[in-house]
Amino acid sequence: MTGPQWERTLTVKTAEQTHALAATLGGVLEAGDLLVLTGELGAGKTTFTQGLGEGLGVRAGIISPTFVLVRIHPNLTDGPRPGGPDLVHVDAYRLESAAEIDDIDLENTMDTAVTVVEWGRDRVEHLSDSRLEVDLHRSVGGERPATGDVMDFDTDDDDEPRTLVFRGYGPRWTEAPRLLETTSPEEDN
Ligand SMILES: Nc1ncnc2c1ncn2[C@@H]1O[C@H](COP(=O)(O)OP(=O)(O)O)[C@@H](O)[C@H]1O
Ligand SMILES: [Mg+2]
Repeated sequence: MTGPQWERTLTVKTAEQTHALAATLGGVLEAGDLLVLTGELGAGKTTFTQGLGEGLGVRAGIISPTFVLVRIHPNLTDGPRPGGPDLVHVDAYRLESAAEIDDIDLENTMDTAVTVVEWGRDRVEHLSDSRLEVDLHRSVGGERPATGDVMDFDTDDDDEPRTLVFRGYGPRWTEAPRLLETTSPEEDN
């Protein structure tokens, strides 16, 4: 398997920023696109997918598809991209192999939808000759304060920084989307 054609790393500070970045990306995705989301529980994979759904203009109600493995969110005629792709949201956590992925027949919807797979690494790459990988990391610069067994009253909704790493594979992603080039904190021009 060959490596990615490019890699871009962005940092965000809040869940809303993760959502907004994904919504912008959702505005440029096309039917047939495959996105593979990787990150620990709570990293923000579903939050990211909700943003994609907003940018694609699909029916709301994106949740962690814990019991239902696949949810189809149809494109809305009164959304920002009427006639645009649907969103197929998959949670592959319980699926152990590419063979089990084949059993859920994603091929049927791939052509008319953007297919987003949480926990898709090493399970869905065969579905398309191109894919966009998105890795979400809770740590920034390798540091995360331990909360351990100290009683704290933080909720899961508290905003924390995230590092998002995007990688493009295959002919669809020969170039990085422009939106990934604009917000590098390292550049100050
Ligand atoms: N920067 C951030 N990006 C995304 N989510 C964040 C961020 N900061 C805090 N959160 C919170 O982390 C949780 C992520 O949950 P979720 O998106 O369901 O993760 P996953 O699908 O990876 O398990 C949400 O409660 C969200 O509000
Ligand atoms: Mg999730």
